[in-house]
Amino acid sequence: MDKVLVTRRVPQAGLDLLEGLAQVVVSPHDRFLSVQELLEMSAGCRAVLSQVADRIGREFLSARPEVRMVANYAVGYDNFDLEAARELGVMLSNTPEVLTAATADLTLALMLDIMRRVSEGDRLLRAGGFKGWAPDFMLGTSLAGKTLGILGLGRVGQAVAERARCFGMSIIYHKRTRDPEAEAGLGARLVSFAELLAGSDVISINAPLTGQTRGIFNYQAFERMKPGAYLINTGRGPIVNEADLARALKEGLIRGAGLDVFEDEPKVHPDLLGLDNVVLCPHLGSATGEVREMMAIRAAGNLAAFLRGQEPPDRLV
Ligand code: DGY
Repeated sequence: MDKVLVTRRVPQAGLDLLEGLAQVVVSPHDRFLSVQELLEMSAGCRAVLSQVADRIGREFLSARPEVRMVANYAVGYDNFDLEAARELGVMLSNTPEVLTAATADLTLALMLDIMRRVSEGDRLLRAGGFKGWAPDFMLGTSLAGKTLGILGLGRVGQAVAERARCFGMSIIYHKRTRDPEAEAGLGARLVSFAELLAGSDVISINAPLTGQTRGIFNYQAFERMKPGAYLINTGRGPIVNEADLARALKEGLIRGAGLDVFEDEPKVHPDLLGLDNVVLCPHLGSATGEVREMMAIRAAGNLAAFLRGQEPPDRLV
């Protein structure tokens, strides 16, 4: 029977799908594996169910030629080297769709939190700072009537736009290719990156991490944003230069930020930790019980198809 490595325990509903198809080896460690551990544990495995932090690059794929498929337990796949996999004939898959709504919900949660100062107010109240209602006490910013600029208008970006429209926001977006259907459905307008920076009251990053997006939100970008603007990132941490963001927040170049992802997780740039005008969330975009179960079913379903000699539904290469 084929052997499959699951690099970190995932909900049982997913593992059940592999029953009878493969001998499933689940890592005994409830943490991410080092490259060395990943190499050792995958010896003799035909497939791997991987986590976002597992680096599935050329080094791993060439050292483990018996691994013919890797199914990511995530929609993002910047931990994969697609080119190496293509060259070496290894199949890769991800888990699209199932986490779209949850990630969009969290994006709005961060937006509401930072703009209406919810976490900041909670901290203040617990520290005894609430002395009663006052006309000018803790004033935030209304969402209604503001322009939301979305970097990337894929599934999550569109779900964010749908929700933001219910709050009375209008939508602009920046993406490599125009999406006329989404534009019609959401009343969204395609703009250049420069226009996105200059024209948005709030920017939401919903793009994948690529060579083009890495570090794109740096000090120069913050200088070009509206002075009272907000930045929300539920995409990937390295799209934002955290040191530059902390500086921009301190200097008042922008008013606030809500981050669910970080440059070097689980670390967070120390300059951000002391700031009141940033909400920091520990990568919870897809973190609901329902969604994590669906992700396990989706990732294992891709593996099950591969093991049966069928086309994995979410095949990337
Ligand atoms: C993803 O799926 O890419 C998230 O970042 C983890 O759920």
